Amino acid sequence: MNKTIIVSNRLPLQISIHNNNLAVNPSVGGLATGMKSVHEGGESLWIGWSGLKEEELDAGLKKKVDAAIAQENCAAVGLTGKDLDNFYYGFSNNTLWPMFHYFMEYTTFEGEHWESYKEVNRKFAETVLQHTDDGDTIWVHDYQLLLLPELIKKERPNTSIGFFLHIPFPSYEVFRTLPWREELLNGMLGADLLGFHTYDYERHFLSSVRRILRVDTHFNEISYQGRTLRVDSFPMGIDYNKFRNAAITHYKKEEAQKSDLQKRLDAHLQSAPGAKMILSIDRLDYTKGIPNRLRAFEYFLDKYPQFREKVRFILLAVPSRSNVPQYQRLKKDTDELVGRINGKFSTVSWTPIWYFYRSMPFENLIDLYTSCEVALITPVRDGMNLVAKEYIATRVDKDGVLVLSEMAGASKEMNEALLINPNNFEQIADTLKKALEMPVEEQIERNTFLQQRLERYSVEKWAKEFMKALQATKQQHHVIVSKKITPQIEQQLFDHYKKAKRKLILLDYDGTLVNFTNIPKDARPDEELYHILDTLHEQENTDLVIISGRDRETFTKWFGDRGYTLIVEHGVWLKQKDKDWQALEKLKKDWMNNLKPIIETFVDRTPGTFIEEKNFSLAWHFRKADPELAQNRATELKTVLTSLISNHELSVLEGNKVIEIKSSNVNKGRASSRLLAENEYDFIFAIGDDWTDEYMFRELPEEAFTVKVGLKETSAKYYVEDTTSVRALLNGFLS
Ligand code: ADP
Ligand code: G6P
Repeated sequence: MNKTIIVSNRLPLQISIHNNNLAVNPSVGGLATGMKSVHEGGESLWIGWSGLKEEELDAGLKKKVDAAIAQENCAAVGLTGKDLDNFYYGFSNNTLWPMFHYFMEYTTFEGEHWESYKEVNRKFAETVLQHTDDGDTIWVHDYQLLLLPELIKKERPNTSIGFFLHIPFPSYEVFRTLPWREELLNGMLGADLLGFHTYDYERHFLSSVRRILRVDTHFNEISYQGRTLRVDSFPMGIDYNKFRNAAITHYKKEEAQKSDLQKRLDAHLQSAPGAKMILSIDRLDYTKGIPNRLRAFEYFLDKYPQFREKVRFILLAVPSRSNVPQYQRLKKDTDELVGRINGKFSTVSWTPIWYFYRSMPFENLIDLYTSCEVALITPVRDGMNLVAKEYIATRVDKDGVLVLSEMAGASKEMNEALLINPNNFEQIADTLKKALEMPVEEQIERNTFLQQRLERYSVEKWAKEFMKALQATKQQHHVIVSKKITPQIEQQLFDHYKKAKRKLILLDYDGTLVNFTNIPKDARPDEELYHILDTLHEQENTDLVIISGRDRETFTKWFGDRGYTLIVEHGVWLKQKDKDWQALEKLKKDWMNNLKPIIETFVDRTPGTFIEEKNFSLAWHFRKADPELAQNRATELKTVLTSLISNHELSVLEGNKVIEIKSSNVNKGRASSRLLAENEYDFIFAIGDDWTDEYMFRELPEEAFTVKVGLKETSAKYYVEDTTSVRALLNGFLS
């Protein structure tokens, strides 16, 4: 039976050791809850770090830990103290975390950290591979494991791999500053489905893929190394019923059952008429905007003194990553700010801020969520922010106001909250006032919408939707537009070739025999290619034809004395051995003078593009231009040209990073038909990579062996991945 394997940096377990005794408790975090349905259903394994350093465990203890972890259907990846320093604190939390949250000034680039990141990702891959078979589904989580999808895919291509990023994906302008940007993107592209919380993160990622790797994307699909990957947004939800039910239970508690914290909260609420509480809960992380929030609260008390002695701000900051210097500085800044503000406003009976720096049990979180009329959540950058969602879920009577930063992923789905810019103190102060004075009917109206959405799109639904999309990409792999050439098919091809009496081999040039280069003339044939072509040409009863969109002059220079048959400009000219060029089509070219100035205006406005003037066609090349700008301009140019040429016998066609205008009745299909009319072939082979080759694939008889380069929609029967595979295939004819 196929398995599902979940991989995250931390296991969903909390392990503690006291006097050599082990305690293992399931962790209650959002991810752990969300994945419960995936993890519990059928065969499933969760792989991650146990939270313990390898050095802390002697052989006996390690065995015990592994056994306890296995009991929970988990497997541990062992990390040493050095791994933690360099991989976890280093590359994960000193490079990726700050950079992906736009804290460039905190981002460090350390070669040693990067080496360790690669090493630990490899360690994770090893453990995953030990437990993985063909057909399994693997779901990798978050920024600590960006390289893992590729490492697994390389070894087990027949698995379905999903990847979800729980933090923002930054804009290309930020991401491009990373020295290891290509490696990280390639690592992620090992997945079949890539998920992000919001559409913005998704489009930032796609933009980096296009611009850095120069890989084409089509809407949310990426064709990469012969696979089609999907990228999509899946906003993570919460375990809605868990929070709602906990709140319902909470309200039923008798006085005696209440926690000490609850009693203190109640005492404040009863201390003055109209007393209210504002709550914020986060890990103590610089992305959460805690100092700004405190300053904004100070500004609020200055601007609206009528709230002094009535409103109390409860700030719960959970210790996090305290080995990283920025977190230590943040702790110090927060302590000082709280002290200063409390010192400034406190009276004998009132302190404006209650500050907790600790982790609290779940029951206390519920006490806080249910007792505070306002939640003030103001991250400067946050992938999602589940606290905002949890607060709303616990508001059983639908009252309460959420003030939420528009920089949190959650704001995209929580429009009914009061959204603020966390850097605008004026706006925060005014919004806090509005929140504290909001009529209860309005609160209920807003929260009704919010709760409906949270209930519908719970974390369980999130996980299910992701898995469903991943299964769909798996099925898509089976509906490939053409078949990959396997060694068996290759053998049939070579056998057929050997037996045939008269053979025709049609080869496209650019993108098939050679890779594209920025400037077309740089893609000249190399010695290896000449050798393959010469040897094929010398085979008995074999007509070797290079059929290309290139111009006559270039091909005369490269192949004029070689004796192969050449067809250029998509079928305008033919050259056979020892003969001169012969026109296959009679064409006009007066239209070129009219259209060229129009295309020139696009060249002027689109840096990196240029016009190639052929005898009977004009081509606008945009391979070197910024891919996004060029794509927009290409669409624009096509629209302009199509409207201009409607009465002419011209076509506008888009090739691989080129738009070409040429006579409608010239194409590689017509040209290859002419060759077929001249001779009786009992073996026909054609290979090419773009739309111009499709004419040829369609015109050739059914028995022809047609091959597309790259996994794209095609009329060809088979495909190979790249030019290297093309050369290997051609060499096969010779052996
Ligand atoms: P992040 O993932 O950046 O830490 P989120 O707001 O998305 O931020 O998630 C934080 C999670 O941690 C929430 O599910 C919240 O309930 C939980 N949490 C926050 N504070 C505490 C605490 N003091 N004790 C236990 N859990 C907490
Ligand atoms: C964020 C990250 C998680 C991480 C969590 C706690 O939510 O997206 O991957 O596990 O913070 O951070 P920690 O460094 O303690 O694992």
